[in-house]
Amino acid sequence: MEKPAIHQQPPQVDTIISQIEAGRSRLLNSEGLVSDMPGTAGPFDDQSIKKAVGGSKNKGNCQYLYDAAKQYGSGGVVELGTNVGISSAYLTAGALQSGGSPKVVTGDVSGKRIGIAKDLHRQCGLTHVEYVEGYFEQTAEHIFNRVPGWTLAFIDGDHTYDGTLKYYDLVRKRARPGCVVIFDDIEWSDQMRQAWAEIKKIHKGQISAKDGMGTVWF
Ligand SMILES: C[S@@+](CC[C@H](N)C(=O)[O-])C[C@H]1O[C@@H](n2cnc3c(N)ncnc32)[C@H](O)[C@@H]1O
Repeated sequence: MEKPAIHQQPPQVDTIISQIEAGRSRLLNSEGLVSDMPGTAGPFDDQSIKKAVGGSKNKGNCQYLYDAAKQYGSGGVVELGTNVGISSAYLTAGALQSGGSPKVVTGDVSGKRIGIAKDLHRQCGLTHVEYVEGYFEQTAEHIFNRVPGWTLAFIDGDHTYDGTLKYYDLVRKRARPGCVVIFDDIEWSDQMRQAWAEIKKIHKGQISAKDGMGTVWF
């Protein structure tokens, strides 16, 4: 059967995307360390803000997330892995175009990164994103509970075999028909390749891989 495509749009030049990319450039040019920022530190925060930005999806991949949110995000969007807020900004911008008035909740262990993300979102006028600070081991269920009608999830943190399969199990138990989940970095390590191979084996619905992101349809 033909896989349901996420319709790609020509590169967006609208204001919001320009603002997000301007924010990315500002962060890439900043001299500070993540650890200099206010808030509770996460275990990966001993690095420059510039380096942290490098952990965010590039513009092309963000366009995929924007398109996915526009097409599938009308019930609400969940993200595990806020970092400095770039992918959540694209997901929010796309969800706002989806026809609903969707809630977006994103979570990260680092309060410092969440603080940077909040500033970026504010600068882009994306003021209604919600943030959950803490380890996914403790917060993942709570994050999904905050968006009971979620229709799109982006899993981009805790890139371990066990973590990835745990989040797959969590979404599988909650997903209604039509929900879409995107796993990032499925080729990033042996553990992630094994986790994606396992998901491909057990997932009953449609599935596709593109630019290191694996998408599953329920
Ligand atoms: C690759 S970055 C996310 C990038 C972001 N989605 C983007 O594209 O803009 C991964 C994030 O997950 C967070 N993280 C990693 N493991 C985590 C865990 N077990 N619990 C909570 N956050 C975690 C890190 O602090 C980091 O900010």
